[in-house]
Amino acid sequence: MTSFLRPHLRAIPGYTPGEQPPPGSVTIKLNTNENPYPPSGKVFKALESIDGELLRRYPDASAQLFRNAASSIFDIPPTWITVANGSDDLLNLIMRAFVNEGDSVIYPMPTYVLYRTLTQLQGAQPCEISYDEEFELPLAQLISAQGAVTFIAAPNSPSGHAIPIEQLEQLAQNISGILVIDEAYVDFAETNALQLVRDHRHVIILRTLSKGYSLAGLRLGFAIASPDIIQDLNKVKDSYCVDAIAVILGTAAIEDQEHKNSNAKQIKHSRSILTNKLEELGWKVWPSQTNFLLVQHPHVDALELQQWLKLRKILVRHFNLPKMIDKLRITVGTEEQNDIVCQHLTQYLSAQKTS
Ligand SMILES: Cc1ncc(COP(=O)(O)O)c(C=O)c1O
Repeated sequence: MTSFLRPHLRAIPGYTPGEQPPPGSVTIKLNTNENPYPPSGKVFKALESIDGELLRRYPDASAQLFRNAASSIFDIPPTWITVANGSDDLLNLIMRAFVNEGDSVIYPMPTYVLYRTLTQLQGAQPCEISYDEEFELPLAQLISAQGAVTFIAAPNSPSGHAIPIEQLEQLAQNISGILVIDEAYVDFAETNALQLVRDHRHVIILRTLSKGYSLAGLRLGFAIASPDIIQDLNKVKDSYCVDAIAVILGTAAIEDQEHKNSNAKQIKHSRSILTNKLEELGWKVWPSQTNFLLVQHPHVDALELQQWLKLRKILVRHFNLPKMIDKLRITVGTEEQNDIVCQHLTQYLSAQKTS
Protein backbone atom coordinates (compact mmCIF):
# COMPACT_ATOMS: atom_id res chain seq x y z
CA MET A 1 0.00 0.00 0.00
CA THR A 2 1.30 3.46 -0.84
CA SER A 3 2.27 5.42 2.25
CA PHE A 4 1.33 9.08 2.26
CA LEU A 5 3.46 9.68 5.34
CA ARG A 6 6.49 11.89 4.83
CA PRO A 7 9.46 9.58 4.15
CA HIS A 8 11.52 10.51 7.22
CA LEU A 9 8.59 9.66 9.51
CA ARG A 10 8.04 6.15 8.19
CA ALA A 11 10.74 4.44 10.24
CA ILE A 12 10.08 6.38 13.46
CA PRO A 13 8.22 4.29 16.05
CA GLY A 14 6.31 7.23 17.61
CA TYR A 15 5.66 7.62 21.32
CA THR A 16 3.86 4.88 23.26
CA PRO A 17 2.06 6.38 26.26
CA GLY A 18 1.57 4.34 29.43
CA GLU A 19 -1.39 1.99 29.38
CA GLN A 20 -4.77 3.46 30.45
CA PRO A 21 -7.25 0.87 31.73
CA PRO A 22 -10.88 1.41 30.69
CA PRO A 23 -12.97 3.71 32.94
CA GLY A 24 -14.49 1.87 35.90
CA SER A 25 -11.83 -0.86 35.97
CA VAL A 26 -10.53 -1.72 39.45
CA THR A 27 -6.88 -1.50 38.43
CA ILE A 28 -4.27 -0.06 40.79
CA LYS A 29 -2.66 2.27 38.31
CA LEU A 30 0.92 3.12 39.20
CA ASN A 31 2.39 3.33 35.70
CA THR A 32 2.05 6.96 34.55
CA ASN A 33 2.78 8.99 37.69
CA GLU A 34 -0.70 10.38 38.12
CA ASN A 35 -1.53 11.80 41.53
CA PRO A 36 -3.61 9.26 43.54
CA TYR A 37 -5.62 12.01 45.26
CA PRO A 38 -8.34 14.24 43.79
CA PRO A 39 -7.67 17.86 42.80
CA SER A 40 -8.55 20.79 45.07
CA GLY A 41 -12.23 21.13 46.07
CA LYS A 42 -12.02 24.62 44.51
CA VAL A 43 -11.56 22.95 41.11
CA PHE A 44 -14.87 21.09 41.52
CA LYS A 45 -16.59 24.29 42.65
CA ALA A 46 -15.26 26.08 39.55
CA LEU A 47 -16.45 23.19 37.38
CA GLU A 48 -19.98 23.49 38.77
CA SER A 49 -20.05 27.21 38.01
CA ILE A 50 -19.19 26.87 34.30
CA ASP A 51 -22.04 28.16 32.15
CA GLY A 52 -22.97 27.51 28.54
CA GLU A 53 -21.87 30.94 27.32
CA LEU A 54 -18.28 30.02 28.13
CA LEU A 55 -18.55 26.95 25.91
CA ARG A 56 -20.24 28.80 23.03
CA ARG A 57 -17.39 31.29 22.64
CA TYR A 58 -13.74 30.71 21.73
CA PRO A 59 -11.48 30.75 24.77
CA ASP A 60 -9.10 33.58 25.60
CA ALA A 61 -6.08 32.54 23.51
CA SER A 62 -3.70 34.20 25.96
CA ALA A 63 -5.21 32.41 29.01
CA GLN A 64 -4.81 35.70 30.89
CA LEU A 65 -6.71 34.45 33.94
CA PHE A 66 -4.34 31.54 34.47
CA ARG A 67 -1.21 33.53 33.60
CA ASN A 68 -2.12 36.27 36.10
CA ALA A 69 -2.66 33.67 38.83
CA ALA A 70 0.64 31.90 38.04
CA SER A 71 2.38 35.28 37.85
CA SER A 72 1.45 36.23 41.40
CA ILE A 73 2.25 32.77 42.79
CA PHE A 74 5.71 32.57 41.20
CA ASP A 75 6.43 36.30 41.36
CA ILE A 76 7.17 36.50 37.65
CA PRO A 77 5.40 38.82 35.16
CA PRO A 78 2.58 37.33 33.02
CA THR A 79 4.58 38.19 29.87
CA TRP A 80 7.08 35.53 31.00
CA ILE A 81 4.44 32.77 30.95
CA THR A 82 2.64 30.85 28.21
CA VAL A 83 0.24 27.90 28.48
CA ALA A 84 -0.38 24.86 26.32
CA ASN A 85 -2.14 21.51 26.18
CA GLY A 86 0.07 19.86 28.79
CA SER A 87 3.83 20.19 28.94
CA ASP A 88 4.02 17.60 26.15
CA ASP A 89 2.50 20.24 23.89
CA LEU A 90 5.10 22.76 25.07
CA LEU A 91 7.89 20.30 24.23
CA ASN A 92 6.39 20.08 20.77
CA LEU A 93 6.26 23.88 20.44
CA ILE A 94 9.90 24.16 21.53
CA MET A 95 10.86 21.77 18.73
CA ARG A 96 8.81 23.68 16.19
CA ALA A 97 10.19 27.04 17.26
CA PHE A 98 13.88 26.31 17.84
CA VAL A 99 14.97 23.09 16.05
CA ASN A 100 15.80 22.89 12.33
CA GLU A 101 15.93 19.61 10.41
CA GLY A 102 19.37 18.09 11.01
CA ASP A 103 20.06 20.07 14.20
CA SER A 104 21.31 18.20 17.27
CA VAL A 105 19.02 17.91 20.27
CA ILE A 106 20.84 16.93 23.45
CA TYR A 107 19.60 15.13 26.56
CA PRO A 108 20.96 12.70 29.14
CA MET A 109 19.63 9.13 28.94
CA PRO A 110 17.58 7.49 30.37
CA THR A 111 15.06 10.30 30.54
CA TYR A 112 11.58 11.19 29.28
CA VAL A 113 11.33 9.26 26.00
CA LEU A 114 9.21 11.93 24.33
CA TYR A 115 12.37 14.09 23.89
CA ARG A 116 13.68 11.41 21.51
CA THR A 117 10.39 10.96 19.67
CA LEU A 118 9.87 14.68 19.08
CA THR A 119 13.46 15.09 17.92
CA GLN A 120 13.01 12.30 15.40
CA LEU A 121 9.67 13.65 14.21
CA GLN A 122 11.33 17.03 13.63
CA GLY A 123 13.97 15.37 11.43
CA ALA A 124 16.63 16.46 13.91
CA GLN A 125 19.43 14.36 15.42
CA PRO A 126 19.00 12.98 18.95
CA CYS A 127 22.29 13.23 20.85
CA GLU A 128 21.82 10.95 23.87
CA ILE A 129 24.42 11.12 26.61
CA SER A 130 24.33 8.35 29.20
CA TYR A 131 23.82 8.88 32.88
CA ASP A 132 26.10 6.62 34.94
CA GLU A 133 24.64 3.90 37.19
CA GLU A 134 24.01 6.38 40.01
CA PHE A 135 22.51 9.02 37.71
CA GLU A 136 25.26 11.60 38.01
CA LEU A 137 24.60 14.28 35.36
CA PRO A 138 27.19 13.95 32.52
CA LEU A 139 27.84 17.67 32.72
CA ALA A 140 31.04 17.98 30.64
CA GLN A 141 29.61 15.94 27.77
CA LEU A 142 26.32 17.83 27.80
CA ILE A 143 28.23 21.09 27.59
CA SER A 144 30.57 19.99 24.83
CA ALA A 145 27.64 18.64 22.74
CA GLN A 146 26.19 22.17 22.13
CA GLY A 147 22.90 21.44 20.35
CA ALA A 148 20.03 23.65 19.24
CA VAL A 149 18.13 22.53 22.35
CA THR A 150 19.21 20.66 25.49
CA PHE A 151 16.51 18.97 27.58
CA ILE A 152 16.95 18.19 31.25
CA ALA A 153 14.09 16.65 33.23
CA ALA A 154 14.68 17.93 36.77
CA PRO A 155 13.88 15.84 38.77
CA ASN A 156 14.46 13.18 36.15
CA SER A 157 12.12 10.40 35.04
CA PRO A 158 12.36 7.40 35.19
CA SER A 159 15.12 7.65 37.81
CA GLY A 160 13.41 10.14 40.14
CA HIS A 161 16.67 11.83 41.10
CA ALA A 162 17.00 15.56 41.63
CA ILE A 163 19.60 17.55 39.72
CA PRO A 164 21.63 19.96 41.85
CA ILE A 165 20.86 23.57 41.01
CA GLU A 166 24.61 24.33 40.69
CA GLN A 167 24.83 21.81 37.83
CA LEU A 168 21.83 23.36 36.06
CA GLU A 169 23.46 26.76 36.55
CA GLN A 170 26.67 25.47 34.96
CA LEU A 171 24.70 24.20 31.98
CA ALA A 172 22.93 27.54 31.65
CA GLN A 173 26.24 29.36 31.73
CA ASN A 174 27.97 27.13 29.19
CA ILE A 175 25.29 26.14 26.69
CA SER A 176 24.54 28.55 23.88
CA GLY A 177 21.33 26.96 22.51
CA ILE A 178 18.01 26.74 24.34
CA LEU A 179 18.15 24.96 27.72
CA VAL A 180 14.82 23.40 28.71
CA ILE A 181 14.44 22.43 32.36
CA ASP A 182 11.39 20.20 32.51
CA GLU A 183 10.07 20.49 36.06
CA ALA A 184 7.08 18.14 35.70
CA TYR A 185 7.83 16.65 39.16
CA VAL A 186 9.02 19.80 40.93
CA ASP A 187 6.09 19.81 43.36
CA PHE A 188 7.58 16.73 45.05
CA ALA A 189 11.16 18.07 45.07
CA GLU A 190 13.16 20.13 47.55
CA THR A 191 14.39 22.76 45.07
CA ASN A 192 13.45 24.34 41.76
CA ALA A 193 15.33 26.18 39.02
CA LEU A 194 13.04 29.19 38.61
CA GLN A 195 15.85 31.62 39.37
CA LEU A 196 17.74 30.45 36.26
CA VAL A 197 15.00 31.84 34.03
CA ARG A 198 15.46 35.26 35.59
CA ASP A 199 19.22 35.10 35.06
CA HIS A 200 19.48 33.48 31.60
CA ARG A 201 17.53 34.49 28.49
CA HIS A 202 17.90 31.05 26.84
CA VAL A 203 16.46 28.98 29.72
CA ILE A 204 12.87 27.69 29.55
CA ILE A 205 11.21 26.12 32.60
CA LEU A 206 8.30 23.76 31.98
CA ARG A 207 5.65 23.09 34.60
CA THR A 208 2.51 20.97 34.52
CA LEU A 209 -0.73 20.66 36.43
CA SER A 210 -0.75 16.91 35.72
CA LYS A 211 1.23 15.75 38.75
CA GLY A 212 1.22 17.99 41.84
CA TYR A 213 -2.25 19.41 41.07
CA SER A 214 -3.88 16.03 40.17
CA LEU A 215 -5.08 17.30 36.78
CA ALA A 216 -3.48 14.99 34.19
CA GLY A 217 -6.82 14.63 32.42
CA LEU A 218 -7.26 18.41 32.06
CA ARG A 219 -4.13 18.83 29.89
CA LEU A 220 -2.60 22.08 31.11
CA GLY A 221 1.07 22.93 31.22
CA PHE A 222 2.95 26.22 31.20
CA ALA A 223 6.36 27.52 30.23
CA ILE A 224 8.27 30.27 32.03
CA ALA A 225 10.96 32.10 30.07
CA SER A 226 12.03 35.59 29.05
CA PRO A 227 9.31 37.45 27.09
CA ASP A 228 11.01 37.17 23.67
CA ILE A 229 11.27 33.37 24.04
CA ILE A 230 7.62 33.26 25.16
CA GLN A 231 6.66 35.28 22.06
CA ASP A 232 8.53 32.78 19.87
CA LEU A 233 6.56 29.93 21.44
CA ASN A 234 3.27 31.82 21.05
CA LYS A 235 4.02 32.34 17.37
CA VAL A 236 4.09 28.59 16.67
CA LYS A 237 1.28 27.48 18.96
CA ASP A 238 -2.33 26.86 18.08
CA SER A 239 -4.13 29.89 19.55
CA TYR A 240 -6.81 27.75 21.19
CA CYS A 241 -4.74 24.78 22.34
CA VAL A 242 -5.96 25.37 25.90
CA ASP A 243 -9.74 25.29 26.18
CA ALA A 244 -11.95 27.57 28.27
CA ILE A 245 -12.62 24.90 30.91
CA ALA A 246 -8.94 24.12 31.36
CA VAL A 247 -8.17 27.83 31.95
CA ILE A 248 -10.85 28.14 34.65
CA LEU A 249 -10.11 24.85 36.41
CA GLY A 250 -6.34 25.29 36.10
CA THR A 251 -6.63 28.74 37.67
CA ALA A 252 -8.68 27.37 40.58
CA ALA A 253 -6.08 24.64 41.09
CA ILE A 254 -2.98 26.82 40.98
CA GLU A 255 -4.56 29.38 43.31
CA ASP A 256 -5.02 26.65 45.92
CA GLN A 257 -1.35 26.24 46.82
CA GLU A 258 -2.35 25.03 50.28
CA HIS A 259 -4.09 21.98 48.79
CA LYS A 260 -1.21 21.28 46.41
CA ASN A 261 1.34 21.54 49.22
CA SER A 262 -0.53 19.26 51.62
CA ASN A 263 -1.10 16.74 48.82
CA ALA A 264 2.64 16.78 47.97
CA LYS A 265 3.49 16.42 51.67
CA GLN A 266 1.31 13.31 51.91
CA ILE A 267 2.91 11.80 48.79
CA LYS A 268 6.43 12.51 50.06
CA HIS A 269 5.50 10.84 53.36
CA SER A 270 4.09 7.78 51.54
CA ARG A 271 7.17 7.75 49.31
CA SER A 272 9.44 7.36 52.30
CA ILE A 273 7.27 4.60 53.88
CA LEU A 274 7.16 2.74 50.55
CA THR A 275 10.92 3.13 50.14
CA ASN A 276 11.53 1.54 53.57
CA LYS A 277 9.15 -1.34 52.90
CA LEU A 278 10.71 -2.09 49.52
CA GLU A 279 14.20 -1.96 50.97
CA GLU A 280 13.13 -4.41 53.67
CA LEU A 281 12.03 -6.74 50.86
CA GLY A 282 15.53 -6.55 49.33
CA TRP A 283 14.84 -3.97 46.60
CA LYS A 284 17.33 -1.31 45.65
CA VAL A 285 15.41 1.97 45.62
CA TRP A 286 16.96 5.05 44.05
CA PRO A 287 16.53 8.27 46.05
CA SER A 288 13.51 10.06 44.62
CA GLN A 289 12.30 13.66 44.63
CA THR A 290 9.25 12.77 42.56
CA ASN A 291 5.98 10.88 43.02
CA PHE A 292 7.52 7.60 41.86
CA LEU A 293 10.31 5.19 42.74
CA LEU A 294 12.81 3.44 40.49
CA VAL A 295 13.47 -0.02 41.90
CA GLN A 296 15.56 -3.09 41.17
CA HIS A 297 15.85 -6.50 42.81
CA PRO A 298 18.83 -8.81 42.23
CA HIS A 299 16.62 -11.92 41.88
CA VAL A 300 13.77 -10.46 39.87
CA ASP A 301 13.22 -10.28 36.12
CA ALA A 302 11.62 -6.82 35.99
CA LEU A 303 9.60 -7.36 32.81
CA GLU A 304 8.28 -10.69 34.04
CA LEU A 305 7.21 -9.13 37.35
CA GLN A 306 5.54 -6.23 35.55
CA GLN A 307 3.46 -8.75 33.54
CA TRP A 308 2.71 -10.78 36.68
CA LEU A 309 1.43 -7.66 38.46
CA LYS A 310 -0.60 -6.68 35.42
CA LEU A 311 -2.43 -10.02 35.54
CA ARG A 312 -3.33 -9.07 39.11
CA LYS A 313 -4.58 -5.64 37.99
CA ILE A 314 -1.60 -3.66 39.23
CA LEU A 315 0.08 -1.52 36.58
CA VAL A 316 3.70 -0.41 37.02
CA ARG A 317 6.12 0.72 34.29
CA HIS A 318 8.95 -1.15 32.63
CA PHE A 319 11.13 0.68 30.09
CA ASN A 320 12.91 -1.08 27.28
CA LEU A 321 15.81 1.37 27.52
CA PRO A 322 19.52 1.01 28.33
CA LYS A 323 20.04 0.76 32.13
CA MET A 324 16.30 0.26 32.65
CA ILE A 325 15.82 -3.36 31.56
CA ASP A 326 16.26 -4.76 35.09
CA LYS A 327 14.25 -2.00 36.83
CA LEU A 328 10.66 -0.94 37.36
CA ARG A 329 9.18 2.49 37.94
CA ILE A 330 6.38 2.51 40.49
CA THR A 331 4.22 5.57 41.05
CA VAL A 332 3.60 6.35 44.72
CA GLY A 333 -0.09 5.61 45.30
CA THR A 334 -2.31 5.95 48.34
CA GLU A 335 -1.04 4.18 51.48
CA GLU A 336 -3.56 1.42 50.81
CA GLN A 337 -2.42 0.96 47.20
CA ASN A 338 1.23 0.92 48.26
CA ASP A 339 0.47 -1.76 50.87
CA ILE A 340 -1.28 -3.92 48.28
CA VAL A 341 1.73 -3.58 45.95
CA CYS A 342 4.10 -4.60 48.77
CA GLN A 343 1.90 -7.60 49.65
CA HIS A 344 2.04 -8.74 46.03
CA LEU A 345 5.81 -8.24 45.86
CA THR A 346 6.23 -10.31 49.03
CA GLN A 347 4.10 -13.05 47.49
CA TYR A 348 6.07 -12.93 44.22
CA LEU A 349 9.42 -13.09 45.98
CA SER A 350 8.44 -16.02 48.18
CA ALA A 351 7.13 -17.91 45.14
CA GLN A 352 10.51 -17.25 43.48
CA LYS A 353 12.35 -18.73 46.48
CA THR A 354 10.27 -21.92 46.51
CA SER A 355 10.38 -22.47 42.74
C1 LIG B 1 9.47 14.49 32.56
C2 LIG B 1 8.08 14.71 32.05
N1 LIG B 1 7.82 15.82 31.37
C3 LIG B 1 6.58 16.06 30.88
C4 LIG B 1 5.55 15.16 31.08
C5 LIG B 1 4.21 15.44 30.46
O1 LIG B 1 3.39 16.16 31.29
P1 LIG B 1 1.99 16.72 30.78
O2 LIG B 1 0.96 15.82 31.35
O3 LIG B 1 1.93 18.12 31.29
O4 LIG B 1 1.99 16.68 29.27
C6 LIG B 1 5.78 13.99 31.78
C7 LIG B 1 4.67 13.04 31.98
O5 LIG B 1 4.75 12.00 32.57
C8 LIG B 1 7.08 13.75 32.29
O6 LIG B 1 7.36 12.62 32.94
